[in-house]
Amino acid sequence: MQNGSLIDSAPWSNYDPYSDDALLNPWPGYRELRNAGPAVWLPEYEMFALARYESVRRALEDWETFPSRYGVMMNDDMNEVLRGNTLCTDGPEHSALRNVLIRPLMPRALRDARERITAEAGSVVDRLVAQGTFDAASELANHLPVTVVSELIGLPEAGRERMLEWAEEMFNCFGPMNDRTTHSFPVLKEMMAYATNEAVPGRVKPGSWAEGIHDAVERGEVPAEACPVMMIDYMGPSLDTTIFAISSAVYLFATNPDQWDLVREDPRLMASAMSEVLRMESPIQDFSRYVARDVDIDGVVLPAGSRAIVFYGSGNRDERKFPDPDRFDVRRCPGDHLAFGAGPHACVGMNLARMEMLALFTALAERVQRFEILEAEPVLHNILRGFRTLRVTVS
Ligand code: HEM
Repeated sequence: MQNGSLIDSAPWSNYDPYSDDALLNPWPGYRELRNAGPAVWLPEYEMFALARYESVRRALEDWETFPSRYGVMMNDDMNEVLRGNTLCTDGPEHSALRNVLIRPLMPRALRDARERITAEAGSVVDRLVAQGTFDAASELANHLPVTVVSELIGLPEAGRERMLEWAEEMFNCFGPMNDRTTHSFPVLKEMMAYATNEAVPGRVKPGSWAEGIHDAVERGEVPAEACPVMMIDYMGPSLDTTIFAISSAVYLFATNPDQWDLVREDPRLMASAMSEVLRMESPIQDFSRYVARDVDIDGVVLPAGSRAIVFYGSGNRDERKFPDPDRFDVRRCPGDHLAFGAGPHACVGMNLARMEMLALFTALAERVQRFEILEAEPVLHNILRGFRTLRVTVS
């Protein structure tokens, strides 16, 4: 069969996952896509949607059929900009870059950071609880990534201040070419210029992760031209993702006080509760994969040369995998959720992200009985999910 007829015979949907309404409340649309089939053609975007848990996992684990080297974004321009970074390579080239990035993020290497993170978490929570009312997005969730993580990365000062803005705009450009994407592109160019011209040897903090990349170039482990895009590997995903996870966690505990009581009564539940937050409100909702050869996903054939959007956020709400998936249940232990991806590109920063979340919510559990939401403004973003503002009072 020709590619066109393979697409014609696939289930399809006119659902638009990138409309404002869908981005703010994706759950009914995701359910529609999951029910439509294991892979669903979206004519408006000319891409398949993989929305079921098993379909997402399959694509993420089979890198030879679903490679990343043609980019994991939904538009060609962005796939060109990030060509050659860790996220967008495969096989031995990917392993070489990933081995360098992951070094400071392995549990052993994070031992020193743990002490600092726990102490910082305690002091920011003390301060905010004394205040009584605060913005859980900008004052609580931002704190550890902006103070501790950006310092560990060790970029020159001017860039550190802009990392949050850059990262958020960068992720908008992962989406299909819509207004949000075109609006964000100029900011992304600044970020690339900074990574190329400023994050250079001698300018980054001694002993930092950024210096680790330069050292790896000197040792011949990775090519010098990979340096700027590897800086982006740290600058892009290390802050907003964790920040949005933290604000979503506050929202979920505020709206499910019985679940907050459970973790307060039994702090051993906290690690599972953090996984449940990531399952319910995956900070990264979707990336995509090129389809390198015809592949049958549970009866739907995706032709070589097509592209599939992998909806981590939908797979995590798949009723075929997680019973009663829209219920926030801290006792669920969803260790195999997809919020950190899966397969060869699974998140290298997951140990750090979990450590930050655990430190903050352990400190909160010791000091806060209830969160009351005063104002909640979710972020409207092509890819990311979380809160721009989340004003709460704690008691
Ligand atoms: C809650 C926080 C986080 C979430 C939800 C998250 C999510 C993800 C996801 C879904 C992927 C897989 C992409 C794919 O399948 O193509 C990924 C990869 C990655 N993440 Fe994270 N991330 C988080 C925190 C971090 C942190 C703190 C860092 C760095 C310090 C980081 C660095 C990376 C890198 C470098 C990759 C690319 C890995 C590769 O391609 O081999 N992430 N992340």
